[in-house]
Amino acid sequence: MDLPNINQLELDGKRVLLRVDFNVPFFKIDRIPTEADISDDFRIRAVVPTIKLIIEKGGIPIILSHLGRPKGKRDVALSLLPIGGRLSHLLGKDVIFTEDCVGERVERLCSDLKKGDVVLLENLRFHQGEESNNAGFAKELAVLGEVYINEAFGDAHRAHASIVGIPKLLPHAAGPLMTREIEAVGRLKDNPERPLVAVMGGSKISTKIDFLERFLPWVDHLLLGGALASTLIKAQGYNIGKSFTEESMLERVSKFDFKSPKVHIPVDFIVAKEASSDAKTEVRSLDGIQDDESIFDIGPETRKMFAEIIGQSKTVFWNGPMGMHEISIFARGTEMTAEAVALSEGFNVVGGGDTTVIIERLYLDHYIDFISTGGGAMLEFLCGESLPGIEALRN
Ligand code: 3PG
Repeated sequence: MDLPNINQLELDGKRVLLRVDFNVPFFKIDRIPTEADISDDFRIRAVVPTIKLIIEKGGIPIILSHLGRPKGKRDVALSLLPIGGRLSHLLGKDVIFTEDCVGERVERLCSDLKKGDVVLLENLRFHQGEESNNAGFAKELAVLGEVYINEAFGDAHRAHASIVGIPKLLPHAAGPLMTREIEAVGRLKDNPERPLVAVMGGSKISTKIDFLERFLPWVDHLLLGGALASTLIKAQGYNIGKSFTEESMLERVSKFDFKSPKVHIPVDFIVAKEASSDAKTEVRSLDGIQDDESIFDIGPETRKMFAEIIGQSKTVFWNGPMGMHEISIFARGTEMTAEAVALSEGFNVVGGGDTTVIIERLYLDHYIDFISTGGGAMLEFLCGESLPGIEALRN
């Protein structure tokens, strides 16, 4: 893909607006989060080399990101301050954190910066203008820098001011991470060696059903697990007991082509009466789930079936856990899927926050050809969508 790259920009002595995706997960806590509460910093680590490269080239990185969905209002629980702390540790240097991302004080601070400084601006989504792609807001951001680099592949599906507005106003380029993402996910999309297997899990069918339908003509096998599979199973008329399900999605989901030979839903499950680490577990077949039980993992037959299909693939793509992997007694199905993907001999790509955490927890990252920082953006890109954040870098 012929996008302008970082080497085509003159960075020496320049203030470089660097859009990243620091929308990282935090542990669930009921106080204001600190750096120690970041549960996975993969997205921060992924852009550290780019920040170092900008500094090496004499540029002054001014980093922009969103965190969560504060809907245009300041929300202290979604401040980027803890992320600034983690970034500072990873870079081994101080990071100047600004209390807002636009305004006179930020402008003054940015105009006084010198080589060697690194700045992280406060959450872009504290301003409505970010999501509404307000031209005035894009201008307020653009005046802070002289050139613009986009490394936020995870946000490339959002036509927001910092993604599509700023590149209209400043010389711009795709960063090295963005370029690698487009190449790897593009290879998967445009030229996969077959059989191509997509493994989809996670909890919410509402966020994935469109993708599942659009993937069907493209893949050779679609393996489904996690709570999203439970909703699919319920829509087929099976009893899933007290398992998590999105009732409002049942009618929509019932239109899914379950009968396609490409679709593989679990044939057995690990169930329990409660989601706790000392719960008593049982293995149940598809039609054996009791009213007071919940599905928490795929069962041994399903694991075997999934591992065999993945083992015969030439290309695999995995997004989303197969069960409640945070509790070790329910993690085995997800772990075995991770191992099968890692050991598959063809080209393998994983993406999505939880999936990345599992791969790293099992030290399998070196076996994976590409770990994407994108969640929804990657899925949309795979469906053949032209993403606004990528298009904006073309001109
Ligand atoms: C993501 O985590 O997928 C990106 O940061 C986009 O976040 P959003 O869905 O809130 O726009």
